[in-house]
Amino acid sequence: MEKRVFKDNNATAGAFAEFLYKKAQSNDSLTIALSGGSTPKALFKILAEEYQAKIDWSKLHFFWGDERMVAPDHEESNFKMTNDLLLSPVGVPSDNIHRVLGENELDKEVERYGALIRDQVKSNNGLPAFDIVMLGMGGDGHTASIFPPDLGLMHAEGVCAAGTNPESGQKRVTLTGPVINNSKHICFLVTGAGKAEKIDEIFNRKGGYKTYPAAHVNPIQGQLTWFMDESANEKLK
Ligand code: 6PG
Repeated sequence: MEKRVFKDNNATAGAFAEFLYKKAQSNDSLTIALSGGSTPKALFKILAEEYQAKIDWSKLHFFWGDERMVAPDHEESNFKMTNDLLLSPVGVPSDNIHRVLGENELDKEVERYGALIRDQVKSNNGLPAFDIVMLGMGGDGHTASIFPPDLGLMHAEGVCAAGTNPESGQKRVTLTGPVINNSKHICFLVTGAGKAEKIDEIFNRKGGYKTYPAAHVNPIQGQLTWFMDESANEKLK
C-alpha cells in the first residue's frame, strides 16, 4: 500500500493526472472504473486542460465504479459530470465510454452492466480485473456506492450490485468489493478535512474502522495507492 500526500485538492488531482498519463504511456490500452462525487472534478479539469494532446484517449476505456440511477443529463449523474468536464472536451471516442444506464430499471441495469463489464474487461481469478479502479471515500467511510449499512457488498457475489445512499434513499449501481479488490491498481482520491477522522481510523485500524467499506478495500494481487491532500492526512501526521 502506498500513501501519497499533497498540499491541497488541486495538487492531489495534478499528481493523479500525471499518474494516469504515465499509465497511458506504458500501456496499449487501459480499462478504468471512475469514481463520482465532487473530488474527481479537479482531476477531470486538469486532464482536459493540460493532457488533452498528451494522452492518446483512444487507449482508455471508461467505466464507472458506481452511478446514481438518474438520467444521463441529470445534475447528479456521475456520467454527466465526467462527460462535461473530461470525456467530451478531450474527445474520447463514444465506443470507449461504457456508462451505467441510470435511466433503466435498477435490477435490470445491475445485470446488464455486470454482463457488459464481464464482456469488456479481461478476467483474472474468475472476475473482471480493471487496470485501474479510482475510488473516493465518503465522510461515513463509504466507497463507490457501498455504504456502511450495505457492508456485505464488499464480499458479495457478482460484478455489480444495487446500492442505496442511506441519507437520501437514492439508488445506485456499484461494483462489488471482490471486483474492486480484483483490479490491478486501486487508487483512492481523498481530500478535505472532512475525511481526516475516517482516514485516521482506517490507517490506524481503530474506532469503527471495521464497519467502513473503504477499510475493506485490499487488492488481492494488485496495488493500492492513496492519493490524499494534507487536510485528509491531518490526523496521520
Ligand atoms: C458517488 C461517488 C462516491 C464518492 C464519495 C466521495 O457517486 O457519490 O462515487 O463514492 O466518491 O461519496 O464523494 P466526494 O468526492 O463528493 O467527497
